Amino acid sequence: MKVRKAIIPAAGLGTRFLPFSKAVPKEMLPVLDKPAIQYIVEEAVASGIEDIIIVTGKNKRSIEDHFDKNAELELYLQSTGKLDKLKLIKDVTNIANIYYVRQKEALGLGDAILTARSFIGNEPFAVLLGDMIMDDSQPSTKQLINVYQKQKAPVIAVEQVDRSEIGNYGIVLGQQMDDRLYRVHTLVEKPQTEISSNMAIMGRYILEPRIFEILSNTKPGLGKEIQLTDALQTLAREQSLYAYLHEGKLYDVGNKLGYLKVSIEWCLKDKEIRGPFYTYLKELLAEKE
Ligand code: G1P
Repeated sequence: MKVRKAIIPAAGLGTRFLPFSKAVPKEMLPVLDKPAIQYIVEEAVASGIEDIIIVTGKNKRSIEDHFDKNAELELYLQSTGKLDKLKLIKDVTNIANIYYVRQKEALGLGDAILTARSFIGNEPFAVLLGDMIMDDSQPSTKQLINVYQKQKAPVIAVEQVDRSEIGNYGIVLGQQMDDRLYRVHTLVEKPQTEISSNMAIMGRYILEPRIFEILSNTKPGLGKEIQLTDALQTLAREQSLYAYLHEGKLYDVGNKLGYLKVSIEWCLKDKEIRGPFYTYLKELLAEKE
């Protein structure tokens, strides 16, 4: 079955980015000249997704404004002949069918997904976390859709992380099926004790509606939140669930170090500022040595 719909949970309080995220959502942090969430919507569209629901919460209205039509700005750009800029903002407005639903309380990722249940109905869907953006390899969501279509079972993107980072991610254990594919048997959300795997869940999932039933019966877990990882553990006990070591890299822009890494890498990719920025970095590093 075709994967046509996606959920982008963007309701988190963004506490790792306070005080910035007090009034502005962390998903609106600029990476070069676009807010982080635009890259995520672009990945979904490049993966064949047609309908997107963004789960928002308090103080997230600027996300809706960003994808909405701004007639006044369009008129201004038109009348002043700034046609390249006009195209840029029109492209954002027409990027996909985007819908919004509000998570009423910050009860965790699992609860945010559950909020979008009636939008999804009875078909498979993608989940793209609102603070993870990918490099310019083949879209991770597309890679997962290809696996889903072959295996006909839910699949999540994983990456091998440094042992020191294990406590920041959901970690999976499974049986290796081929180079990149694992059949998952155990998932632990941000393990607090030793675990014999460094395969971390990286914010991209292809799921089926069964997960909603499981989520609605999942008790709060780590941090007293309804954890998607806990629901996936229940799922893995009753049917096949796969983890895929995706090609490329996903960056967590929801924390300071991740955000700075993305910003620097994107600057070094930009045709216009790559040269002067590289020279600046080299001089700066030489000065600090
Ligand atoms: C969430 C998930 C976690 C995953 C991480 C990165 O955690 O709960 O399993 O590894 O995203 O995709 P968060 O970073 O939102 O606390």
